[in-house]
Amino acid sequence: MVPVAHDPTRPYWVQGNFAPVHTEETLTDLTMTGKLPAELSGLFVRNGSNPATGDALHWFLGDGMVHGVRLERGKAQWYRNRYVRTPLQQSGKGLMDFGGAPGKENNQSNVALVEHGGRLLSLGEVGWPFELSPQDMSTVGPFDFGGKLGPTMTAHPKVDPDTGRMHFIGYEFLRPALTYYAAAPDGTLDVVSPIAVEAATMIHDFAITDRDAVFWIGPVMFGPDPSGRSPIPFHWDPSGPSRIGVMPLDGSGDSIRWVDVPPSFAFHGYNAHRDGGDVVLRVHRADEAFGPKGDLVPTYLTEWRIGTAGPSLTFAERQLHDRSMDLPSHDRRRTGRSTRHGWFVTTTTPDSDHGFELAGICHLDLRSGKEDLWDPGPSLRGGEPFFVPAEGSRPDGDGWVMTFVWDRRTDRSSLAVFDAQDVAAGPVGEVQLPVRVPFGFHGTWIPA
Ligand SMILES: [Fe+2]
Repeated sequence: MVPVAHDPTRPYWVQGNFAPVHTEETLTDLTMTGKLPAELSGLFVRNGSNPATGDALHWFLGDGMVHGVRLERGKAQWYRNRYVRTPLQQSGKGLMDFGGAPGKENNQSNVALVEHGGRLLSLGEVGWPFELSPQDMSTVGPFDFGGKLGPTMTAHPKVDPDTGRMHFIGYEFLRPALTYYAAAPDGTLDVVSPIAVEAATMIHDFAITDRDAVFWIGPVMFGPDPSGRSPIPFHWDPSGPSRIGVMPLDGSGDSIRWVDVPPSFAFHGYNAHRDGGDVVLRVHRADEAFGPKGDLVPTYLTEWRIGTAGPSLTFAERQLHDRSMDLPSHDRRRTGRSTRHGWFVTTTTPDSDHGFELAGICHLDLRSGKEDLWDPGPSLRGGEPFFVPAEGSRPDGDGWVMTFVWDRRTDRSSLAVFDAQDVAAGPVGEVQLPVRVPFGFHGTWIPA
């Protein structure tokens, strides 16, 4: 297929590898290149935005589509892509024509996936999750934790590796605007803690340590953008709240303590941990959430240190790295604990040859500062690098990194597996797909 030149006058999310695909495939006769580790048996599956109508108001606002590759002892069994069967997707209408307030089953379920309590859940930004079958990636239906979930759950739950408990948040446009939840390892929702906040803002992610839930709120206010820059119903207003909150895991909302911080925004945290009286939180910080025309702005890995020992919280920040990158991954055997290794996707800027794109894979040793970078050149493009531990390895960083890679010369993609400690060497093996997997957001690995 002949590559199509980037057109800077059109939104980035309708072009190149952001453009949606229009068929659901089940492919079993897949070519392998290189050698995938024989210990890899399971399902790699990733979510993303794929507007069924072909266009959307923003990259974030298409219908959820999951792309999965089943591996058996390092060999590919199948590739499947499936829409998440939400009411919106099933209606055949775009978001604006569908109507109804976002929340509950009315959401696109296009951001991430988590396996918890024996269920594979597709997660959106504001609304209930949808349970999927890991056997064939079909949609089982919306899941509301037996009626205990409020109207929304966000896409970045954190599973405590020691307790197996899943901690997460929901935000909404009406009070209580923010709710903290926790679920037991069997999926029973047993903590529902509304948190008083002064305004409805976008809160995409949060973090845990081994004893704290940590919330960061930036002034991305709900409502139409007076400047017309943001195509989604959130806009940047630096007079709005900008603060970080810390409360005990499983605590009630009135136990939270806040510290005001300079206005900034971070869609994603990398990980957080306790360092004595301090909470150390690493995030991908930006000066604001969106650039002109809804572009995403460069984000830089930054450490936020919140002192909790005194009567009032304290705050300090320092930038850790000078490369624009996001979609962080850490060894989830150490979620909430100090982690040395991180994996990130680099991003290109809107004024580069192909506009804003996800690009290379960066592995950072946060102790030494050493960077291990897979530079994909002009033709290849990666995505979120998901870390999978090596069999029998000790926690923190020994394993594999998986991502979908798109080749703009052939307009096809692969599932690429890298040695997590040497991503610069390129993939150790790839499952070649005769189809394109569009850029997406977050994935997970479900071991067999
Ligand atoms: Fe996200």
